[in-house]
Amino acid sequence: MTTWLVTGGAGYIGSHVVRELLASGRAVVVLDDLSSGHASRVPAGVAFVQADVADGQAVTQVLQDHAIDGVVHLAAKKAVGESVEQPLRYYRENVDGMLSLLEAMAASNVTRLVYSSSAAVYGSPERNPIPETATLQPESPYGETKVVGEWLAAAQGAASGLSWVALRYFNVAGAGSDDLGDDSVNNLIPMVFAALDKGESPQIFGDDYPTPDGTCIRDYIHVADLASAHAAAAAYCEAHQAADAFNVGRGEGSSVREVMNTISAVIGRDVQAQVAPRRMGDPPASTAATEQILLTLGWKSQLDLEAMVASAWSSWSAHRSR
Ligand code: WQD
Repeated sequence: MTTWLVTGGAGYIGSHVVRELLASGRAVVVLDDLSSGHASRVPAGVAFVQADVADGQAVTQVLQDHAIDGVVHLAAKKAVGESVEQPLRYYRENVDGMLSLLEAMAASNVTRLVYSSSAAVYGSPERNPIPETATLQPESPYGETKVVGEWLAAAQGAASGLSWVALRYFNVAGAGSDDLGDDSVNNLIPMVFAALDKGESPQIFGDDYPTPDGTCIRDYIHVADLASAHAAAAAYCEAHQAADAFNVGRGEGSSVREVMNTISAVIGRDVQAQVAPRRMGDPPASTAATEQILLTLGWKSQLDLEAMVASAWSSWSAHRSR
């Protein structure tokens, strides 16, 4: 049985990845600085170390104390807008953190890495669905830091035999269980729920895009599906000398209005969304090409938009009622 360290494992995505790795028969250790994660999300019996991934000494200690075989690296800042306002903080936390982790891994001879990247590396795509070979032209410091992280993994892989897979997440939503929902109100679905809780109309940022209904199209992926992609990537890193980046999406786009309609259907009433001005930097459409991850990892998504919205609403409602 292999043992994997999950950095950011007390977070929304990380806590799902931890459970999926355990379910796949691997042992897990969690490292998280709790800047946005919650210790309560770490399952009983799983070793938890509260530390900053950029703290090389602490990370080296964990790698050696627990005889870590591989690392799933999720710990990073991920709010696009915030990265525009605080680029140096994003480079410090996302790039320095990755660099420090790779140095600690090399010093401890840990040779497997699954790295959390993002569709933000593509910026405004030239075409959809977006293949992994598309030009990486990020349009935010956040997206830039994700590209640099991939470069670091690729360079270290070529120099040292690190077996690595970067997973380029599209739009993550949903909850594997009510206690693991996304409580950071940074993305469409929780933003709609927050507006409804305040008795406000949710906003559609622009309905004059060149899309069938005029609203932006995104490729939403259930966080439970995303977690299973990490277990597939870990298995691949264990069995091969991997050096790959894969999109993680459904390969299917949903417009903002379709998401609003799905939320209305799930909660049983019309959310009465209002059209607001466009938001800077939003590409009209962004959907994943998904052939490569199926071909190489044998992974494909299982859950649809309705399952994402229903599970997100169930988790949101459960939290509100506490
Ligand atoms: C989705 C769509 C908005 C809120 C970002 C990052 C990406 C990844 C996921 C980290 C857009 C519209 C939103 C609202 C709206 N994060 N919207 N009303 O911008 O596609 O992707 O988060 O990896 O890197 O870029 O996600 O959820 O913010 O927006 O109309 O109240 O919903 O304009 O078209 P986005 P999002």
